[in-house]
Amino acid sequence: MSTLNKNIGLIGFGVVGQGFYSYLEENKEEKLLPKIVIKNNNKERDEVKAKFITEADEVINDKSVETVVELISDDKEAFDIVTKALKAGKNVVSANKKMIANNLEKLLELENKSKGRFLYEGAVCGSIPIIRTLNDYYSLDTVTQIQGIFNGSTNYILTQIFKDNVSYQESLAKAQKLGFAEADPTSDVSGSDALYKLLILTTHAFGKFISPSKVLKIGIQNITDSDIAFARENNLKIKLIASVKSNNNKLWLSVLPTFITNDSVFYNVDNEFNAVEVVSESIGKQTLIGKGAGSLPTGQVIYSDYKAPENYKYKYDKILSGKRIKYETQEFIWVYSDKITQFEKYIEEVVIINKSEGYAKVSIADLIKIQEELLDEKLSLIALTDEALKQLNKKYEFAYALQYA
Ligand SMILES: NC(=O)c1ccc[n+]([C@@H]2O[C@H](COP(=O)([O-])OP(=O)(O)OC[C@H]3O[C@@H](n4cnc5c(N)ncnc54)[C@H](OP(=O)(O)O)[C@@H]3O)[C@@H](O)[C@H]2O)c1
Repeated sequence: MSTLNKNIGLIGFGVVGQGFYSYLEENKEEKLLPKIVIKNNNKERDEVKAKFITEADEVINDKSVETVVELISDDKEAFDIVTKALKAGKNVVSANKKMIANNLEKLLELENKSKGRFLYEGAVCGSIPIIRTLNDYYSLDTVTQIQGIFNGSTNYILTQIFKDNVSYQESLAKAQKLGFAEADPTSDVSGSDALYKLLILTTHAFGKFISPSKVLKIGIQNITDSDIAFARENNLKIKLIASVKSNNNKLWLSVLPTFITNDSVFYNVDNEFNAVEVVSESIGKQTLIGKGAGSLPTGQVIYSDYKAPENYKYKYDKILSGKRIKYETQEFIWVYSDKITQFEKYIEEVVIINKSEGYAKVSIADLIKIQEELLDEKLSLIALTDEALKQLNKKYEFAYALQYA
């Protein structure tokens, strides 16, 4: 194939786009990128050996462009670009988790009809190569669970809270100042960003396409000083844990702030680092830990997608068996709150520690029903891992335990 045919069309030159460009420079491949599409022509930019343009169609319709690398922020505009590029027969690389999680089934159809291929390792957990790992190495194994820390900004905020003894608000302000959290941190702190990544992994590991609106998602924005004090007193930490697990052809998903014990693999995964634990029938547990975001870590993964072998595509091997799996919400989990008695009507069992404070068994389905209300009323709920529940039960065995019929 001639060099001319390997031209790249880069759309978006922000944090990740610049990281990707630096690997092209390092490998003396920047001549393959004659044009970069941006939005605002008046922005000051570092000098690059490419022409800045503002029309994405100009590279999509360019016959010499073989691969379109889509790295813009807006999900709807990104979907439009990726759709057009696949229809034009281009290879497409993207890192837009929101766009992918919301449209993966359609994108797959487009890819199947296209001459091009669609790769997006950078969309999930930055530098951690989890999509290809699932696609290539877990295709013959049965995955039973994936869980982990999928968002670097919230992990940075939670780490600072426990390290520096500060409140959620103080830690968020520091994260924004240092560039670890965006000026508008909603997608991160609400758990949406982690959920999009979880849904992409769910398709690769379990063959299911699930809409973000159907999944239990509680963010970290309502965490109170008393939640933090309770964690400290009990030698626990709070991490935002995304989880999908399957049993008997049923599948449960959640994104929840979670108390974890000091023997958890996630306990010392701090700052902007992410972790993905995969549990499968043949292999058992394996965990990948790495930088979850940032210009160079994500740029490297985008560069690897761009350089993927010519015939490499994601196989989506699990989609056939996924048809037998049913997404479920009828599962009980344990959650802590300093106002647990306010949830009385949803509680199956409860351990009251002090006045309104305690932890209770509630169903995922009920939590989905009230998740908006929790947000509006600034009520915090922290999930307990099985280990955290055991630890608390030992300490509070003489506390007031109540079974609701
Ligand atoms: N930041 C990370 O660490 C990270 C990690 C993993 C995945 N991602 C994902 O990667 C993507 C890019 O993130 P980012 O952090 O690099 O974003 P960013 O810093 O906000 O940069 C976005 C870039 O896209 C350009 N742009 C926006 N709308 C455009 C349009 N309609 N046409 C052409 N260019 C347009 C902007 O142009 P101007 O320069 O003119 O404003 C800017 O250069 C997002 O989907 C994000 O979720 C980011």
